[in-house]
Amino acid sequence: MVQIAILGYGTVGSGVVEVLNTNKNSIAKKTGEEIQIKYVLDLRDFPGDPIQEKIVHDFNMILNDPEVAIVAEVMGGVEPAYTFTKKALMAGKSVCTSNKELVARHGAELLQTAKENNVNYLFEASCGGGIPIIRPLNSSLTGDQIDEITGILNGTTNYILSKMIQEGSEFDDVLKEAQEKGYAERNPEADVKGYDACRKIAILSSLAFGKQVNFEDVYTEGISKISLADIQYAKAMNCSIKLLASSRREGEDVYAMVCPVLVDKEDPLFSVNGVFNAIFVHGNMLGDAMFYGSGAGKLPTASAVVGDIVDEAKNRGRNVMASWGEERLALADVKTSKSMFFVRVCKTAETDLEKTEAIFGRVKPVVLEELPGEFGFVTEEMTEAEFEERKEKFGSVISRIRVRRAE
Ligand code: HSE
Repeated sequence: MVQIAILGYGTVGSGVVEVLNTNKNSIAKKTGEEIQIKYVLDLRDFPGDPIQEKIVHDFNMILNDPEVAIVAEVMGGVEPAYTFTKKALMAGKSVCTSNKELVARHGAELLQTAKENNVNYLFEASCGGGIPIIRPLNSSLTGDQIDEITGILNGTTNYILSKMIQEGSEFDDVLKEAQEKGYAERNPEADVKGYDACRKIAILSSLAFGKQVNFEDVYTEGISKISLADIQYAKAMNCSIKLLASSRREGEDVYAMVCPVLVDKEDPLFSVNGVFNAIFVHGNMLGDAMFYGSGAGKLPTASAVVGDIVDEAKNRGRNVMASWGEERLALADVKTSKSMFFVRVCKTAETDLEKTEAIFGRVKPVVLEELPGEFGFVTEEMTEAEFEERKEKFGSVISRIRVRRAE
């Protein structure tokens, strides 16, 4: 029997308990032994819930119990999760987590601590909810040099954008729904402003490129500026708008960025709707692969945590995570990153097509009946710096959205 402790009985913690109870027999069969929850750490009590008999309020009870071999850290946030995780690893206990904030900030260090103590720090649930992506990057794809990872990595924003596009719903109403369904962060700013996707792409990039990608270095724009008018243009152009988190290698440079992007109907990311996530990976030998599935929510996330617990139970005494070194990867300056841009401008005598093309190059204007005072167009490919320069010169740009390059 393997004894485990769960830190946090919130959305994911209660999901881990539910997954372990629901699939108890099949999990025991796959593990080769029974997984038993010995403790659940939470500040609160849960009278009437069968979990109450396992609730403890003092982490030291878990730390000092040699029978606890695996700790599931599903409390979220950096502290006290960091201190608990570090202590657990140093005490010879493996830690499985969904805590993307902690993995993004201290992943390299905690992996090293795990290695030194011959245990594991596993974080499949930190990116893409229930989608297996960490394990493939850590094992199946290690024969490749990864050139690009582009993902829809935040379920809440994808849910919001999908509903705005499909139903013409207002941003605030859909955000409320996402919160009620347990997709959103406690502070949904992290979703809406792109910080959550930024942490996830930093984790995936660190694994893919083997060096520490600091999430603070990743250029990040959220979806709060996307309006229903932008959505109307996207629909008219047979496109969708997605919050994409992307990192790509170009020669010696690595670019990383999170921003809303116009995605064409032919693109495999176009049909990824609702709370689903998808991660597109390009490897120099593999070519393209896409990982798709439930990206947020209690049970998909808990399923990934339990997968790690089972993996650890089967691999005890063996450090399985590939290197994610502590050396910092200096990302290339985003100003030199190239893209095409969808631009909306006010229709005035001065902004005629001639002036537009003189500044932005050859364009095909998109005019919507319902927005008579303006028009839109897609530019040729140019660097961010070039675009800013031309935008400045043009004067009256209403908004701009990057356009995903069709390969
Ligand atoms: N708030 C996150 C999301 C939860 O919406 O994707 C899963 O990490």
